[in-house]
Amino acid sequence: MTAVSAPAAGVAPIIRLSGLHKRFGDLHVLRGIDLDVQPGERIAIIGSSGSGKSTMLRCINFMEMPSAGRIEIQGRQIGTPGRAQADGTVPVQYSQAQLCDVRRSVGMVFQQFNLFPHMTVVQNVMEGPVTVKGESRATAHAKAMQYLEKVGLANKADVYPGRLSGGQQQRVAIARALAMEPQVLLFDEPTSSLDPELVGEVLAVIRDLGEEGRTMLLVTHELGFAYHFATKVIFIADGVFHEVGPPEELLKHPQQERTQRFLERFTAFSF
Ligand SMILES: Nc1ncnc2c1ncn2[C@@H]1O[C@H](COP(=O)(O)OP(=O)(O)O)[C@@H](O)[C@H]1O
Ligand SMILES: [Mg+2]
Repeated sequence: MTAVSAPAAGVAPIIRLSGLHKRFGDLHVLRGIDLDVQPGERIAIIGSSGSGKSTMLRCINFMEMPSAGRIEIQGRQIGTPGRAQADGTVPVQYSQAQLCDVRRSVGMVFQQFNLFPHMTVVQNVMEGPVTVKGESRATAHAKAMQYLEKVGLANKADVYPGRLSGGQQQRVAIARALAMEPQVLLFDEPTSSLDPELVGEVLAVIRDLGEEGRTMLLVTHELGFAYHFATKVIFIADGVFHEVGPPEELLKHPQQERTQRFLERFTAFSF
């Protein structure tokens, strides 16, 4: 993988999170997250189960509404802040149009693929461009075939997802995300539900996307892959960034004791 130079000063981040909090009732999951994602960055997010990794990604594409803080995408704050409450919190209103915009610019790939079982592979990939972006079926079909080609599955266009292996289904899910032509891709443990022999084909597709210079956030337990893939690694613990650094430092020479303890539990990876 080619090294990526430091982002030029003054380049607007694609995503900026400032003071992001998320609560589910009494459960305070995200406790103040600040993050700038620059164009071309590939960020690996690691941490124990329940630490808030998925919640962070789900807030970035507004599948979950933040409880506090700001999310800017390409320099625009998402949501309209209202009047400050007595306790100092500022409620934010989100319009459907704005959330639709977010879903065009932020693509997401899930652990469980989430393909529509009653649609063929190519129909799955066309669905977003047709319904969200208003593309004609002919245009959407042609593009869908290009993206299926890219993930090596053009020959499966007309089969139903149930006929595919998990690795193939996940590659279709990646093609589906790409078909929306997003500015940034979020991957939430994309290989965690795959049989071990199918992990490699999905990681190869993600690696290729990195080589194209795409901006990506990847939650993963594949630390060996993260080491080679990422321009930056974030260790989340208890809803905050406990340690952040280049892969070489964070994965090989972590400074924080808690990061060291987390990494020690992974005995089966090598760089
Ligand atoms: N919709 C929800 N409602 C209530 N609690 C939730 C919800 N989503 C996640 N949580 C809780 O938030 C915490 C963080 O979850 P999650 O972000 O999925 O962690 P991770 O992805 O790091 O394993 C967990 O305790 C989880 O049970
Ligand atoms: Mg998760």
